[in-house]
Amino acid sequence: MKFLILNGPNLNLLGLREPEIYGKQNYAALEQFLRDTCEAEGVECVIAQSNHEGVLVDRIQEAYGLFDGIIINPAAYTHTSVAILDALKAVQLPAVEVHLSDISTREAFRSISYAGMACLATCKGHGFESYKEAIQYLKTYLLKKKEN
Ligand code: DQA
Repeated sequence: MKFLILNGPNLNLLGLREPEIYGKQNYAALEQFLRDTCEAEGVECVIAQSNHEGVLVDRIQEAYGLFDGIIINPAAYTHTSVAILDALKAVQLPAVEVHLSDISTREAFRSISYAGMACLATCKGHGFESYKEAIQYLKTYLLKKKEN
């Protein structure tokens, strides 16, 4: 089982940016957490981060045929990007949306998620653990799908 884990804009500044919301650990620590979690779950992963919407769209398109599923934290593009929504719909790979913070209890503009409309589930509000929940959700979904 192979997952693409995509992280959007400003997540490379984890640790520095609003630590009271996103935590004190940096992006390298998140990558290590993702590698360790995937290894423990027996899942292969490729992790990528970009500050550019088009690059994220390219990565989703390129995932077609190469990955079993996508875990995506589109960051600020969550609330604006029809292009990311359309890319997820186009490739039809099972996807799970992740957020470190709980976007449903913050500013009103964060309660809309375009990417989420093409995702099986949203894991949010639990910091790095949100990603673990998403990895486990996607793995369970794919294993169940294989059984049927
Ligand atoms: C975020 C939430 C978004 O609203 C915000 O723009 C981010 C990070 C999160 O992980 O909590 O950049 O996706």
